[in-house]
Amino acid sequence: MRVPLMAGNWKMYKTVDQAVEFVRGLKAALAGAGGAEVAVCPPFTALAAVARELAGSQIALGAQNMYWAEEGAFTGEISPLMLKEIGCRYIILGHSERRQYFGETDQTVNKKVKAALKHGLTPIVCVGEQLAEREAGRTEAVIKTQIDGSLAGLTADELAGLVVAYEPVWAIGTGRTASTRDAQQVNGYIRALLAGLAGHGAAGRVRIQYGGSVKPDNAAGLMAEPDIDGALVGGASLQVDSFAAIVRAAG
Ligand code: G3P
Repeated sequence: MRVPLMAGNWKMYKTVDQAVEFVRGLKAALAGAGGAEVAVCPPFTALAAVARELAGSQIALGAQNMYWAEEGAFTGEISPLMLKEIGCRYIILGHSERRQYFGETDQTVNKKVKAALKHGLTPIVCVGEQLAEREAGRTEAVIKTQIDGSLAGLTADELAGLVVAYEPVWAIGTGRTASTRDAQQVNGYIRALLAGLAGHGAAGRVRIQYGGSVKPDNAAGLMAEPDIDGALVGGASLQVDSFAAIVRAAG
C-alpha cells in the first residue's frame, strides 16, 4: 500500500557535469526496476541540469533545503517557488547536518514544511537522536519533540502526504547502521506519534524512511520491516552501482 521511496541525498557533492553523468547512468541501471519510487537530491547548482536529464524518466528530483518565503531580500536563500519551477517534487527538511551546523530548529523546519506544502512540494522531514541521547535512553523523547515541533499545525491530509526520514545521527556517514530491529522500533514509534496527531488513517499513509549508512548489503533487511518505507541514502547514493543496488533491494 505504501510505495517505498528510495532517495539519494548527495549533500555537497558533484559538479554539474558529474551530476548529469550520474543520472544518465542511473536511468540505464534502473531500466526495468519496479517496486520503489526513486529520487535524487543534488546540490542546488546541479538541479536544473539534472531536471533536464530526468525529463520523461520515472526518477524524481528533490532539493536539500529551502527558505520559507516566496521571494524577498534573503541573500543566499532559495524559495519553494524556485524549486517548484525547476521541477523538484521533494524537499529534504531538517536534516541533522542543517540542525547541527546551520541553526535549523523544529520551529524553522515547521515553517519550511508549511511553505513546501503550500507550493506542492513533498517534504522529507528528517528526525533522529544523537548518540548521547540514545545512550541516555532519550531516543523517544527526542523524536517526539522533533515530530511535534516540526509538524505542528498540519491537517491530517497534509500530514498523510509527508515523508518522514528517521536518521539516527550516530549512524550517518559512520558505517554504523541501526539494527533492523532498532530502526523498525523507532519508525513504528514515529507512526504511533503521527497517529496521535492525525489519526491512524493518515499515519498509515505516511512513508517513513530510514537513513544512516544504508548500503547494498543492509538495504533489503531494513526494507523488509513493516514500518520502513524506503531509505534516505547519503554516501552510497553517490555511485550508480551502489545506489541502484539499494533501490532494487526495495523490491
Ligand atoms: O540523508 C542521508 C544521510 O544523512 C545518511 O548518510 O552517508 O550515512 O548514508 P549516509
